[in-house]
Amino acid sequence: MTNDMYEHVEAAAAAIRSQCQTLPQTAVVLGSGLGEFADTLLDAVRMPYAELPHWPASKVVGHAGRLVVGNVGGRQIAALAGRAHFYEGHDLSTVVFATRVMGRLGVREIILTNAAGGINTGFASGALMVIDDHINLLGSNPLLGSNDERFGPRFPDMSEVYSRRLRTIADAAARARGIPVSHGVYVAVHGPSYETPAEIRFLRTIGADAVGMSTVPEALAARHMGIEVLGLSCITNMAAGVLPQPLNHEEVLETARRVRDAFIGLLEGIIERL
Ligand code: HPA
Repeated sequence: MTNDMYEHVEAAAAAIRSQCQTLPQTAVVLGSGLGEFADTLLDAVRMPYAELPHWPASKVVGHAGRLVVGNVGGRQIAALAGRAHFYEGHDLSTVVFATRVMGRLGVREIILTNAAGGINTGFASGALMVIDDHINLLGSNPLLGSNDERFGPRFPDMSEVYSRRLRTIADAAARARGIPVSHGVYVAVHGPSYETPAEIRFLRTIGADAVGMSTVPEALAARHMGIEVLGLSCITNMAAGVLPQPLNHEEVLETARRVRDAFIGLLEGIIERL
């Protein structure tokens, strides 16, 4: 993390501040196929990533690439439709750029959503999972390199990455809206190829319930900055080898679309309770 990064983050934060009358209190990062939540914000200010200084572009199908700041349930929210991924060739300090900007804007909580493969055989495609903890198998860390103390400490604690308070709120929102949710451990892998059945058996053995290619870098950077984190996975497919069928990105998008209303309902219920 170079000092340049801090200046770039500050420049993006300044550009956002100049366009928003009310700054966001909470950020929501929207995973594959979940971007439409951004369209539900009231009195919204829309900022395409391409118009924000230094903002990395995501080119994945299903990721629209815009920041929307607006109101949900009386709370000012920053919704990020589209994120940069490690597998696109960005380094992890670039992957967490948006998280850094949210932190500098003064966001207190960040809700990280993603599409994930179900490793736990008790799950089914379309299930929603509250992330209780993670395993980082990216082989890297966004905090690698010289530490910028303006973001946070050199050796940040990770004993409760996913806030117990926010997980309890997620459960209360799910119960109130009649949306079933599971809990589990998310493992982040590099991608972009999906896993082999042998890799999925390995990941199950080490304690993972769901596998995906995002979220962990942002969660680490957010905790580094003292931001409270909630992680929500949409189990868009059962992981490789669980079912006798191949995996593809269309299935991921199709399932995300199918559960979109439940997912948006859950997010609204959570935000109302913050
Ligand atoms: N593996 C990794 N990442 C994913 C998957 C998967 O099965 N589904 C959605 N994202």
